[in-house]
Amino acid sequence: PENVNILAIESSCDETAAAVVQNGKTVLSNIISSQVEEHKKYGGVVPEIASRRHCENICWVVDGALKEAGLTLDDLTAIAVTYAPGLIGALLVGVNYAKGLSMATGLPLIPVHHIRSHIAANYITHPELTPPFLCMVASGGHSHIIEVLDHVTFRVIGRTRDDAAGEAFDKAARAMGFPYPGGVYIDKAAKLGNPDAYKLPHPKVDGSVYDFSFSGLKTAVINTFHNAKQKGVEVDTNDMAASFQKTVCDMIAEKLMGAAKELGYKKIVLAGGVSANLGLRERLKTECKKRNFDFYVPTLDLCGDNAAMVGAQGFYEYKSGNLADLSLNAVATKDI
Ligand code: KG4
Ligand code: ZN
Repeated sequence: PENVNILAIESSCDETAAAVVQNGKTVLSNIISSQVEEHKKYGGVVPEIASRRHCENICWVVDGALKEAGLTLDDLTAIAVTYAPGLIGALLVGVNYAKGLSMATGLPLIPVHHIRSHIAANYITHPELTPPFLCMVASGGHSHIIEVLDHVTFRVIGRTRDDAAGEAFDKAARAMGFPYPGGVYIDKAAKLGNPDAYKLPHPKVDGSVYDFSFSGLKTAVINTFHNAKQKGVEVDTNDMAASFQKTVCDMIAEKLMGAAKELGYKKIVLAGGVSANLGLRERLKTECKKRNFDFYVPTLDLCGDNAAMVGAQGFYEYKSGNLADLSLNAVATKDI
């Protein structure tokens, strides 16, 4: 059979990214232009700036992806683009670029959901992985436990009631004095600290047993710093980072392992920006080993936002006939 070469575009937040992926698994190119240094100054992503930078960068990022893959537009099978969820002005840049390219070339247009892409990053790292499996997606905007029934069918069984895991990392990191986005700084500091130094809340969530709540934990970290300052005492940043990270790992491990047992899954997958967290990767690996579950997580380069994962998911959407016409619009909030 002929190769399916998908050009993928991602612009949902603060990375402008393009990639060419062959048959859903082979990454021929993967270009990411990050705006993070610019947003750092403001302590978070400024949507207006993100849109403007996507506009400036998208042409050369897409050109770069084709060049690095050694392909021209004539070699492509289809164009995949992240259309939801994300910052609306940011998404619109990628969506409209993809629509223009689809109109000019006649290539089919594949709309791809961002969370589906994060999950699909695992198909690149682990070509042998196939659904069904149970997946924890933890990113800056989402914390979901998802049953992946097949490549394009999903059932969300747990979600956060307040902050996403990545958001909690970033807000706690801010209290610790780290720059935005602080998740990775907590990860590094946690290695040097004592995870039992601070007792942090691990709240029960009423209703669904698989739902999360991270805002109480984040607030406890902020309050600890605040109270210490008033009393004129020091908080050990490394100890706090380690204690915070351990509590997040406890919360995720408890719910995810509980769900796997209850629903009978033996394949456990981690995805999303927070899947880069070394403590969480190790913890879930250990928990899975104890139970004889297989554990999957993307390589570090595919955990954060990128377009290779969009190309991977795009392949299965294409196979399933999930195509869009030129009326495709970007959507800020959308269930998987
Ligand atoms: O998936 P992603 O790149 O963007 C969204 O779709 O939201 O996730 C970004 C989030 C940020 O909150 C960032 O702090 C977090 O992932 N993150 C981490 C680590 N690397 C990135 N959190 C904890 N430990 C890390 N090593
Ligand atoms: Zn993401």
